[in-house]
Amino acid sequence: MKVMVRAVLLVLLSTPFLAVVESISMGTFFTGLFPKLFCKFQECCDDECVKLNLTGLKMDLDNKLFGQHIAKQVVLKAVNGFFTNPNPKKPLVLSLHGWTGTGKSLISKIIAENIYTNGMQSANVHLFISTVHFLHTKYLSDYKEQLQKWIRGNVSTCARSMFIFDEMDKMQTGLIDAIKPYLEHYDNIDGVVYRKAIFIFLSQAGGARITEIALDFWRRGIKREEIQLKDLESKLSIGVFNNKDSGFWHTSLIDCNVIDYFVPLLPLEYKHVKLCVKEELVARGYQADEKIITAVADEMTYFPEHEKIYPDKGCKTVAARVHYYL
Ligand SMILES: *[C@@H]1O[C@H](CO)[C@@H](O)[C@H](O)[C@H]1NC(C)=O
Repeated sequence: MKVMVRAVLLVLLSTPFLAVVESISMGTFFTGLFPKLFCKFQECCDDECVKLNLTGLKMDLDNKLFGQHIAKQVVLKAVNGFFTNPNPKKPLVLSLHGWTGTGKSLISKIIAENIYTNGMQSANVHLFISTVHFLHTKYLSDYKEQLQKWIRGNVSTCARSMFIFDEMDKMQTGLIDAIKPYLEHYDNIDGVVYRKAIFIFLSQAGGARITEIALDFWRRGIKREEIQLKDLESKLSIGVFNNKDSGFWHTSLIDCNVIDYFVPLLPLEYKHVKLCVKEELVARGYQADEKIITAVADEMTYFPEHEKIYPDKGCKTVAARVHYYL
């Protein structure tokens, strides 16, 4: 009897054991009582932590994204619809198209920030840039294997994972084929359910075509806010899919209907560049100095040659240029 008590005591007193007991109870204590607080310290993936803040999404799109009335509508509808569906049949797949600096990365950032507490830094948000992560053609089979392993691994850990693929128009076709199965209508693949994940593709494919359409409206004296999704959609699909320069990348995705929403981004104008500069100044804690705002917007180069309506880099270089003035 005495021996047993001593043995139990010994075990209890040995620190590793206590540490384990302690961490378990503290863990459950925190997650149980303060799920929100716990999320701040450790990334989690339940409905309490990963959920859509619709009001925040709408506000951010209104306040930070300029000149993109169509994209705004489509994104709100798509993301909200996906989150209100308790049992989606497939993952949400958005394809964002537009010229440089029109807001594609910004939109994916805004979406991430209104779903995950840690936004783009979340362990459940994964950004891949074709020309950075998958540059070399000779490693295609390695890339394929790795990417599939990552998608599988991350979705197994958190069904509500988000994958952003930037520069999709520069992605090797073989790699696109590798991710295609995860985008389709499967209940599960080898026991892993992909139906709650979000995939966002960013590309410049179709950007030139969108600009042509916007320019056509402008020349006819119609306000850009009157351009509707349907004005772009029909022409865009031709521009995107039949033009080798803008990338053939998703012909295979299109054929399978895996893309749920095309999100076209219009070329920005002078007044939008000014808004971007203003936003950048305010975000850095400075006054919205009209002189700096005008100076930065005036520095940009605009096209087409005669009308000079659209900045060729959109708002992309705004941050760097603002930095120069401060
Ligand atoms: C999740 O994806 C990241 C890349 O964003 C990768 O480094 C990591 O190994 C993946 N996790 C799993 C469990 O596969």
